[in-house]
Amino acid sequence: MNNHESFTRADYAEAAAVIRQRTAHHPRIGLILGSGLNPLADEVAGADRIPYTDIPNFPRPTVPGHTGQLVIGQLAGQDVAIMQGRGHPYEGISLQSATFPVRVMAELGVHTLIVTNAAGGINANFRAGDLMLIVDHIGLMAITGGNPLWGPNDETLGPRFPAMNNAYDLALRRLALKVAADLGIVLRQGVYCGLGGPTFETPAEVRFLRLIGVDATGMSTVPEVIVARHMGLRVMGISGISNVAIDDPDAVETANHEEVLTAGRVMVPNLMAVLRGVLADLPALGSAS
Ligand code: HPA
Repeated sequence: MNNHESFTRADYAEAAAVIRQRTAHHPRIGLILGSGLNPLADEVAGADRIPYTDIPNFPRPTVPGHTGQLVIGQLAGQDVAIMQGRGHPYEGISLQSATFPVRVMAELGVHTLIVTNAAGGINANFRAGDLMLIVDHIGLMAITGGNPLWGPNDETLGPRFPAMNNAYDLALRRLALKVAADLGIVLRQGVYCGLGGPTFETPAEVRFLRLIGVDATGMSTVPEVIVARHMGLRVMGISGISNVAIDDPDAVETANHEEVLTAGRVMVPNLMAVLRGVLADLPALGSAS
């Protein structure tokens, strides 16, 4: 992995300029849709759809379930920019490339980022199809050196040593919980762990993750959240539990990407309802810190 690719503000501005030429919307909320969750973007009104291939330096997703286009328009009364699919470092791109779109969204004026992902349930009480509000994360990759902020720091974007407590904004979490409760949708809460993939975890790794306090694990999100927080964006994250991680070395079943996509289809209506409710109530929270 090339972990030291350096983009500059000029690169973010160049990509943002291309996007501005293709839309009259001024998105303030960014959303990233994970595996199997791409249909969430179908409800956007007045949508301008820009393939990542048309935007300089955007990653080209290679994974089924990741469409690879930016959808900009209106959702629940908000101007949104939705990433229909993301790039992952396991596809052979750098962490800086995988998180490039987050930098560009901020350049466009986005102040709040909502990240979603498909994740394996590590908490023994979780079931496939559950939704989990991310309260905090363990960046196993990031704390061992796989951090998108490695390299020169541009102080105009954010500090060299950004804080990561309250990365998942408390006011947004409270809002999501209230919206879900009002809708009668069960929204679990927990700690997300970001791993490198593309291998699913061994049973011993699953038991290790449970031991260190992980509730759900996946192969994305953490780098994006680090980059967003570096720039002071307000962040909310929801994991869709697509499968229950296998902790028994003698189990005959295996984790696979098809079950991830199938569970995604089941979760989309509930996730969409929660996101719509959060977006509708966002103005009441005021602007980002
Ligand atoms: N492990 C890691 N990443 C995942 C999983 C899993 O079980 N399911 C969906 N993404």
